[in-house]
Amino acid sequence: MSKLLIIGGGNMGFAIAKGIADKNFLSKKDILFIEKSSDRVKFLKKAKFNVFKDYTDLDFKRIDIVIIAVKPKDIEELLKALSKTLNKKISKKTLILSIAAGVKINKLSRTLKDSPIGRVMPNTPCQIGEGINVLTFNKKTTKKQKQITKMIFSSIGEVLELDESKFDLVTALSGSGPAYFAYLIESLVKSGVKLGLDERTSYILSLMTGLGTTRMLKEIKDLSPKRLREMVTSPNGTTHAAITTLQKYNFEDVIFKAIMAATDRSIEMGRVG
Ligand SMILES: NC(=O)c1ccc[n+]([C@@H]2O[C@H](COP(=O)([O-])OP(=O)(O)OC[C@H]3O[C@@H](n4cnc5c(N)ncnc54)[C@H](OP(=O)(O)O)[C@@H]3O)[C@@H](O)[C@H]2O)c1
Repeated sequence: MSKLLIIGGGNMGFAIAKGIADKNFLSKKDILFIEKSSDRVKFLKKAKFNVFKDYTDLDFKRIDIVIIAVKPKDIEELLKALSKTLNKKISKKTLILSIAAGVKINKLSRTLKDSPIGRVMPNTPCQIGEGINVLTFNKKTTKKQKQITKMIFSSIGEVLELDESKFDLVTALSGSGPAYFAYLIESLVKSGVKLGLDERTSYILSLMTGLGTTRMLKEIKDLSPKRLREMVTSPNGTTHAAITTLQKYNFEDVIFKAIMAATDRSIEMGRVG
């Protein structure tokens, strides 16, 4: 790969660029940005990336991959600009990757007709290199381009390739997922405070329990969440009292309904685009 262009240098665009540069997959001079916000331009320049305010300033000949990292609400305007400017300048072999939530490959290919296109669903922990990225590609994407995409996104977390038909569910599970875990921690902290702890103590107890549990599950081979739960739950003990209370109030069913609601909402939002 010789040069990468990222359109939109916000939180996620920057996280990807930083991940790639930190892992030495590309040097900073080969990572180009197009960014609209002047504050972000300053920030990206300070981090030693090449930033352009306009497509016309760019030499597209050597760009192999373009990553679209603007908000879904800005996609329409961006596609208009792409069809006017980029389409003529960019080689039909250039891989276009979009991380915009809910924007389907079909929608992108209406503008970028003959291009290889990939869609990626990252999540917020990608910003610290601990995310999960789900990838999908259209038929024009080559095996090598898929490999490079996997390499790029492995610099900010784990990578998984799935059919695009699963993307609404992926959005509901891992895309929105950090909010569910944060909500659980928030609720644990509040419970601790209501029952007599100061907020800081309750927070560190809840946070480290979440971190330790997920790390154990990740690092100890063959340890399933169910097995870990059973290991902690002795008959008639304290954990048993909490778990039976969660079961009495249909914890699993509440979670299932929440994931279903998020999936339905993703499908609904996709219909608009
Ligand atoms: N953040 C996450 O954790 C996360 C997780 C999963 C997926 N995503 C997806 O990642 C994408 C980016 O999210 P983000 O959180 O990084 O957003 P962000 O911080 O708002 O960054 C987007 C940046 O792109 C700029 N921009 C907008 N239109 C542009 C254009 N036509 N040309 C050049 N720059 C343009 C914006 O400038 P202005 O502010 O001036 O408009 C902003 O600085 C979204 O589509 C989102 O769905 C994000």
